[in-house]
Amino acid sequence: MQILRHVLVPVEAAVYGVSYAFLQNIIRSPTPLDPEWTWHAVTKDMPRGTDWIRMGWPLKPLRPLVIRAKMRQDHVLGISAHYDVSNDFYKLFLDKKYMFYSCADFKPGDTLEQAQQNKADFILNLIDPQPGEKIMELGCGWGSMLRRIEEATGEKDNLYGLTLSREQKAYNDQDNRFHVDFDNFITREYEPEKFDKIYSIGAWEHVRQDEIPQLLRKLHRALKPGGRLVKHFFLRANDDVIGPVACSQIYFPGSMGASYRFHSKAWEDAGFRIAHCSVHDYRPTLRAWFDRLVQHKEEALKLVNVQTYNRYLTFFPASWRYFNDRYGVVTRWVLEKQHP
Ligand SMILES: C[S@@+](CC[C@H](N)C(=O)[O-])C[C@H]1O[C@@H](n2cnc3c(N)ncnc32)[C@H](O)[C@@H]1O
Repeated sequence: MQILRHVLVPVEAAVYGVSYAFLQNIIRSPTPLDPEWTWHAVTKDMPRGTDWIRMGWPLKPLRPLVIRAKMRQDHVLGISAHYDVSNDFYKLFLDKKYMFYSCADFKPGDTLEQAQQNKADFILNLIDPQPGEKIMELGCGWGSMLRRIEEATGEKDNLYGLTLSREQKAYNDQDNRFHVDFDNFITREYEPEKFDKIYSIGAWEHVRQDEIPQLLRKLHRALKPGGRLVKHFFLRANDDVIGPVACSQIYFPGSMGASYRFHSKAWEDAGFRIAHCSVHDYRPTLRAWFDRLVQHKEEALKLVNVQTYNRYLTFFPASWRYFNDRYGVVTRWVLEKQHP
């Protein structure tokens, strides 16, 4: 098995690039990775030649083939592979109060808990929920933002969520008691003009470019006139980045987000008016999750196998690097459906 692990390096490097092969090789290590070594190895600056190979291979004409092969992976299974690890495992590194699995707003000296509270308050302000309004979250995770809205309005009955993780659905049913369906928000049919607000936090990244226009039209129809779509997600700064796209398939098989240019045009084509757009920094959250996972290594290894632990230990620095190199950017948007 260990020989196979090393034999795969040149094969995967030739097909998917050097970064992909390197990450897969260390994830397959039979022992838990050393945290300091891992953070440094994944985030360090490369000599110029190595970086040129890292970013230049596969060559441009081959890139569509690589992406097409990876996009054959089932999107639904890919979501489940990432989120159905174990709720107790996620509890080890997410913030204690809400269990947000999305970028927080750190101010100097903030704990992860405070930073997630800051983010929840910021997004609450964008959603601006009013008592009696019907509100739906696309990709609701462990119900974190639904709980923040319930705190603000004192209401639960009009709050709805969708997830593709059975573990999250069970958690929401048992612990939160929100109306959460196990359903794909991309293929779902929505009742016309049912919702006052629809929002999504850290889930739009999973929507492929060719799925976006039709989904936006469905969401536009599902909103009441004057309703709003609020989104927090990271988008690709650029249309042509193969290395990070291939690496992201290790963590989110079958998912591939779109670029800033594509999104801003798509909102307007679907009939929305852009009322807010802001940019946020994911790096401190990724570092905080990494540190907490390392702190709880022994408990983590009782819940998941070594390769899963290693996958998360590389996921946080690999994502940190993605944002640090400015391949991706976290954005928040308010999109309004105009009155006729
Ligand atoms: C990174 S988590 C974010 C969860 C939560 N919004 C938060 O901020 O903590 C992404 C969520 O999106 C959900 N998701 C992704 N694609 C989906 C789809 N097509 N349909 C339904 N849920 C989806 C996942 O199941 C997961 O709950």
